[in-house]
Amino acid sequence: MRVLVCYFSQTGNTEKIAKAIYNEISKEHQADIKKIDQVNTDTFKNFDLVFVGTPAHAGDLAGPVKQVMNSLPKSPKCKFAGFYTHMAPTSDKDVQSALRGAFEKIVKEKEITYMGTFNCMGNPDPNIAKMVKEARKMSDDEFNEYMKEAVKHPSPEDEQKAKEFAKEVVSKIK
Ligand SMILES: Cc1cc2nc3c(=O)[nH]c(=O)nc-3n(C[C@H](O)[C@H](O)[C@H](O)COP(=O)(O)O)c2cc1C
Repeated sequence: MRVLVCYFSQTGNTEKIAKAIYNEISKEHQADIKKIDQVNTDTFKNFDLVFVGTPAHAGDLAGPVKQVMNSLPKSPKCKFAGFYTHMAPTSDKDVQSALRGAFEKIVKEKEITYMGTFNCMGNPDPNIAKMVKEARKMSDDEFNEYMKEAVKHPSPEDEQKAKEFAKEVVSKIK
């Protein structure tokens, strides 16, 4: 199977997961990995399966990812799977329903065969973390506790889970 992993990443979190998925998939398949600004809708024609990765941006897919997905023709031949990283703790169901919802909305509109979504926490940029601390009126203790966990992600365990997700997606297609 020809598989593309494409992603947008500003601080490296989503890129880490993209590389984990690519490393796993390329063991058995003809795989490629590209940043989202290196792909257009024609690129997808060369693949049977595309993993698309994004950070959560304001409860949505990042702009460049949305742009590429929105420019797809209806019913593309290749199948898609999504992955994203987020600063909210993994227990935060809001970010998950927002991002899964955003992927699902686009794939429904485009009549895409969608194979599922993976997510994990990603260590936030310090400026964003500070903004959230202020917006959520977190105490220093609460914030320190949050950051203690956040800096660990994506962890080796997250990368392993992403690999398992990738294997599961591929096994459903074979
Ligand atoms: C502009 C902006 C908006 C963000 N919005 C959210 C958000 O709504 N929810 C969330 O959990 N994280 C949010 N984040 C945090 C990122 O999704 C998170 O740190 C992600 O792991 C960054 O991935 P990257 O390193 O691949 O860019 C935001 C970050 C930025 C820069």
